[in-house]
Amino acid sequence: MKILVTGGAGYIGSHTVRALCKAGHTPIVLDNLSCGHVESLPDGVEFIEMDIADPSLVNVLKDKGIEGIMHFAAHSQVGESMVNPAIYYENNVVGSYRLIESARKAGIKYFVFSSTAAVYGEPKVVPIKEDSELNPTNVYGRTKLMIEQMLQDYSKIYGLRYVALRYFNAAGADSSGEIGEDHTPETHLIPLILEAALGKREAITIFGTDYDTEDGTCVRDYIHVNDLASAHILSMEYLRDGGESNVFNLGSGSGFSVQSIVDTTKAVTEIDFNVIYGERRAGDPGTLIASSEKAQTVLGWKPVHSEVKQVIGDAWRWHQNHPNGYGK
Ligand code: UFG
Repeated sequence: MKILVTGGAGYIGSHTVRALCKAGHTPIVLDNLSCGHVESLPDGVEFIEMDIADPSLVNVLKDKGIEGIMHFAAHSQVGESMVNPAIYYENNVVGSYRLIESARKAGIKYFVFSSTAAVYGEPKVVPIKEDSELNPTNVYGRTKLMIEQMLQDYSKIYGLRYVALRYFNAAGADSSGEIGEDHTPETHLIPLILEAALGKREAITIFGTDYDTEDGTCVRDYIHVNDLASAHILSMEYLRDGGESNVFNLGSGSGFSVQSIVDTTKAVTEIDFNVIYGERRAGDPGTLIASSEKAQTVLGWKPVHSEVKQVIGDAWRWHQNHPNGYGK
């Protein structure tokens, strides 16, 4: 299939672009390079530098004969969304609205959307299923939920079929070590720990040790970026083969504490770096673990790279090979 990948030069987008090529699809990447890295794209993949809100996108969709859209482009930092909500409403909500409108005008039938576990907020029951209460506790999660709701209406009324994929903690890198995570600023746990291992930061601070978990630190469900990539392809093929609009959680189904991630990273890298035990970070739920049974049953998806040692080992290879990310 010919698939437009918005945010295809970003972390999860670029891994999905590679997976699409391997699966025999033709990705066309659309990215405004506000966060993405054109260096992450494989040779021969068509790249269009454009914003998702650009109204001329409708012509791109028509002229290129695009059949489906995978929509990754977004601002994705929870902390930033709480101090600068305007850019989240503009880029995520308004930008996505304009993209979805372009899709409707161009007669696009299939749409796969990057959503997030943040739509659930603080869960009452773990593991979290798709029909759990939706109660985002931050602006980022709210913007993603609004886009899901927009898609629901477009699906019902205009027949644009979609899959929304609610990721838990995306992590890891392609095992080639050629592409990986490069955010500025970096806020995610595993890359920050690896920067401590590389000596690029003096220590890693663990946010909170008094949660109601086995060792008092937060528990999260880490899912390998290449497992996310395969879920996007299965979702697109599911829609192409007549699947109805749907929502799926993507996680490994296992939870790991921050302390255990630190310990495993020390074992994988064989480096003993400094750890600081700090205060809780505002807004962090104690435990987030996905039930991904629905994706496994309906899409036939199976996470195969998400054993935590592989997640950290693959991320480590990328960080060792590219200590400054895609920069010089
Ligand atoms: N953490 C630390 N120290 C750090 C950074 C993080 O202890 O320096 C802890 C956090 O408190 C949290 C865990 O490590 O308990 C993971 O934190 P991340 O920032 O890596 O990820 P989050 O769980 O906060 O966020 C992820 C995604 C978001 C998504 C959210 C869903 O990155 O996009 O899950 O709740 F919204």
